[in-house]
Amino acid sequence: MAYKELSNIYDGYWLIFSRLYKKFIKSVQLKHNIKMDTILDIGCGTGSLANMLSNGKNIITGLDLSEDMLEKARQKSFHDNNLEFIQGSFTNFNLNKKYDLVLSCHDSLNHISKLEELDLVFKCVKEHLIDKGFFIFDIVNEKFFLNIIKERNEINDYSQEEYINELTYDEGKKVFKSSFVFQDSKDEHEEIPIEYNEIIKHIEKYNFEIVDVFSDFYLNGIVDNAERLFFVLQNK
Ligand SMILES: C[S@@+](CC[C@H](N)C(=O)[O-])C[C@H]1O[C@@H](n2cnc3c(N)ncnc32)[C@H](O)[C@@H]1O
Repeated sequence: MAYKELSNIYDGYWLIFSRLYKKFIKSVQLKHNIKMDTILDIGCGTGSLANMLSNGKNIITGLDLSEDMLEKARQKSFHDNNLEFIQGSFTNFNLNKKYDLVLSCHDSLNHISKLEELDLVFKCVKEHLIDKGFFIFDIVNEKFFLNIIKERNEINDYSQEEYINELTYDEGKKVFKSSFVFQDSKDEHEEIPIEYNEIIKHIEKYNFEIVDVFSDFYLNGIVDNAERLFFVLQNK
């Protein structure tokens, strides 16, 4: 099961990244004057980013596959009527609504099981964006997974207080597997690498304009050995 037991400890280990994403999105918003009255966060997890972006007036919808992650998101935001969290897949959703901004952060999109599913994501996002609305997301490429595995092999200790984390990357199948072994259960999820050109194909097909591309949180273009890419796209 993916993100079940993990949902209980997710914020303890990864909340810090949501702070980084919030800062990043605010900087991009300022740079490109992006309207954020209505936001859809796909692969929203425990809703931390949605909570941080909420200013009491903008309307934010979080969509995620995992009911366990969503449960945490709902608990966290029970006081905020402008936040809603909906169960569904970002490869197949229809909320009958259009948003100023669609977000997907912390390599959520890498959780697709094959590259062809990116097409479904772009199709759904397109249908949920207003004219000139923005789609901001990050993805990680193969270098990222190869480096994680290399680092793990060098450090050779995967244990945290609550779990042991086992990582594998199958270079033939291009599948990264992360297992979190808890005392009485195991959570597993898979991700696949997504390269820059894969995204470009869909940008062209769905008629988006590339407003900005960054690597690794530096708001300054792409470095040569980039592992994480951020795209800022506008719906044409
Ligand atoms: C690494 S977490 C990131 C969560 C959140 N964006 C954050 O920044 O903390 C990836 C999330 O993607 C969700 N996810 C995986 N596949 C999905 C799918 N097909 N549709 C929607 N969410 C999905 C998982 O349930 C998980 O909550």
